[in-house]
Amino acid sequence: MRAGLPASAMIAVALAACAAQPAPAPGPASAPIGHGGNPARGLAHARENCASCHAVGAGASLSPHPLAPSFQTLADTPGMTGLALHVWLRSPHENMPQIVVAQEQVEHIAAYLESIESR
Ligand code: HEC
Repeated sequence: MRAGLPASAMIAVALAACAAQPAPAPGPASAPIGHGGNPARGLAHARENCASCHAVGAGASLSPHPLAPSFQTLADTPGMTGLALHVWLRSPHENMPQIVVAQEQVEHIAAYLESIESR
């Protein structure tokens, strides 16, 4: 007959203080914007929030709103970097309503724009 029970339960508590890295100070211009975003999420967000006026699909050029540039055009505009997008989406415009876009979403949108850049 064998002794079936493990004699001891060793508890190894190895809670090294988490090597937490201090988060870099958040600031609109401090991170390389457009590189942490997810293009698919950017497109999804754009479809929901921007597509009523902008043509958001890759290669699409006819925006529902005649004054709104297509996202393809934005993508191919040299100065339209993630940073420019941030600035744009946080300042008032004549014809585009002030839309509150979370920084995270801006990054996704910027990543999406980067992904459809045709140059
Ligand atoms: C209600 C219509 C409308 C919606 C919704 C809208 N836009 Fe616009 N957007 C415009 C118009 C019109 C312009 C042309 C510039 C102006 O306001 O005169 C514009 C311009 C822009 C520009 C600047 C282009 C340039 O040449 O500088 C960017 C960038 C932009 N939109 C991004 C977005 C994003 C991202 C969203 C979604 C989060 C969005 N827009 C939603 C109407 C809209």
